[in-house]
Amino acid sequence: MVLDVLARVATEGAHASVALDRALPTLPRPEDRSFATDVVYGTLRWAPAIDAALGARLRDPDALPARVRAALRAGTYERGVRGTPAHAAVHAWVEAIKRGRGPEAALAGLVNAVLRRVDLDDAERRGGAAAAVALPPALWRHLSAALGPEDAAASARAMLAPAPLWLTVLGDGAVAALEAEGAEVRPGPLPTSKSVRPRRPLAELSAFRDGLVQPQNPSSAAIVGALGDVHDRTVLDVGSGHGVKAAQLAAAGARVIAVEVDARRSEAGRRNLDRLGFEVRHVVADATEPLDGLPLVDAALLDAPCTGTGTLRGHPEIKQRWNDGDVRVAAARQGAMLRRVAERVRPGGRLVYAVCALGREEGEDVVVDFLAGAPDWRAVEVVLALPTRTAEVGARILPSVDGLDGFYVAALERAGVASDPDAAAHS
Ligand SMILES: C[S@@+](CC[C@H](N)C(=O)[O-])C[C@H]1O[C@@H](n2cnc3c(N)ncnc32)[C@H](O)[C@@H]1O
Repeated sequence: MVLDVLARVATEGAHASVALDRALPTLPRPEDRSFATDVVYGTLRWAPAIDAALGARLRDPDALPARVRAALRAGTYERGVRGTPAHAAVHAWVEAIKRGRGPEAALAGLVNAVLRRVDLDDAERRGGAAAAVALPPALWRHLSAALGPEDAAASARAMLAPAPLWLTVLGDGAVAALEAEGAEVRPGPLPTSKSVRPRRPLAELSAFRDGLVQPQNPSSAAIVGALGDVHDRTVLDVGSGHGVKAAQLAAAGARVIAVEVDARRSEAGRRNLDRLGFEVRHVVADATEPLDGLPLVDAALLDAPCTGTGTLRGHPEIKQRWNDGDVRVAAARQGAMLRRVAERVRPGGRLVYAVCALGREEGEDVVVDFLAGAPDWRAVEVVLALPTRTAEVGARILPSVDGLDGFYVAALERAGVASDPDAAAHS
C-alpha cells in the first residue's frame, strides 16, 4: 500500500494526504496505519537527501518503475531515519517488490543489493548543502536567497519533523469535550491553538462534529491578528477556501464576505462554517478580475494561493514539484489579486496580504510592486501573537520553531477616512 501511494504521488501528481486517506482504510490495524503514514510522509520529506544517497549506488534511478523507486526510497528512509535494523528494513521492501507484477518482480535483487549498501550519510557528500537539509538544489537556493543560508537550513531541517495535530478552539468546552473522548490536549503558542493527540479520527470526535474546533496550524491562525480589531467591521476574506480564517473573523465579531474562485471549495467552505455555527456571505468570484459587485469594506484578508514552501512539513510532495516557473505564475496571480482586493477597501481601511510561501518573489516583491503603483496605500507594522522576522516590507513566521508553518504577511493601510464609516461598513 505504501508503495502504491508513493508511486501515485510521484507519477500522477497526487497529494500525499489525499492518496493516503484513500488507502489507509485498507489497513485494519491502527499500528499499521500509523506506520504507513510515517513512512509515506517521512520518505517524501527526506526524498531529496535519499535520492542523493541512492545516486551513489545506482546509475539511473529515474529509469526504474515507480514502485521500485518507491521501495528504494522507503527502505532508505526506514534504515537511515527510522533506524530500523538493515535486515528487517531490506527484507520487507524486497518482499513487496517480489510480489509485484511483471518486470517489477525481476528487480527484487537490485532492491536488495542497493538497500543493503545505501547510506544516508552519502547525501551531503554527493548533494552538498541542499541534500544535507533534504531540499532540491533550486528550492534550497530560493529559500537561502530569501532567508539567508542559516535560517533557510534551520527552517528546512525543522520541516523534516512531523507536525502535531493543531486545533483552533472556536467554541466553549472544546478542551473538556476532547479530553472526555480520551484525547491528550497540550497548550499551543496561541491561547486558541492546541496540540492534540486524539484516540480516534478527528471527524469522529464530538468536539469536531459539534463545531467547537477546527484543524489549523497556529501560524495560519495568527495571520488574522494582523487585521487588528475586526469587531463589528465588514471584512472580505479573499481566497476563503474551506473558510478556516473566515471562521476566526466571524468569531471575532466581523461581518464576513468570503470570496472564492472555486465553486466546490466555496460550497465546502459553506458546509464547514455551518458546522462551526458561523453565518458568512459566500461569493464565488475570480479575484484577479474587478470585484465590482462587492461593497467597499473596512478590511480585507487576502490569503493568496501560493507555492506552499512554508508547509513542506505537511505537504512534503511540494519538494518534488516546486519550480521557478510556478513561482512566477503564482506571483503574477498574487499581484493581480492584491490590486483587485485593494480596490474594495475603503479609505482608512486595512488589507492583510499573506502567503504560506517563504520566497521573496511571492512575498515582499509582490507587495513592493503593488505599493509602487498605489500611492494611497502604505505598509504598516505587522503585529502578530507569534515571533516574526521582519522583511523589507512585512514579516515572516519561520517554520524553524516546533510544528509551525512558515508564512509571509504584510499589513497595508489605505490613506484617508471613510466619509461615513457606518455607511461603508453596512453597504
Ligand atoms: C491559501 S488558500 C486559502 C485558505 C483559506 N483562506 C483558509 O484559511 O481556509 C487560497 C485559496 O484561494 C483560492 N483562489 C485561487 N485563485 C483565486 C482567485 N483568482 N480568486 C479567488 N480565489 C482564488 C483557492 O481556490 C484557495 O482556496
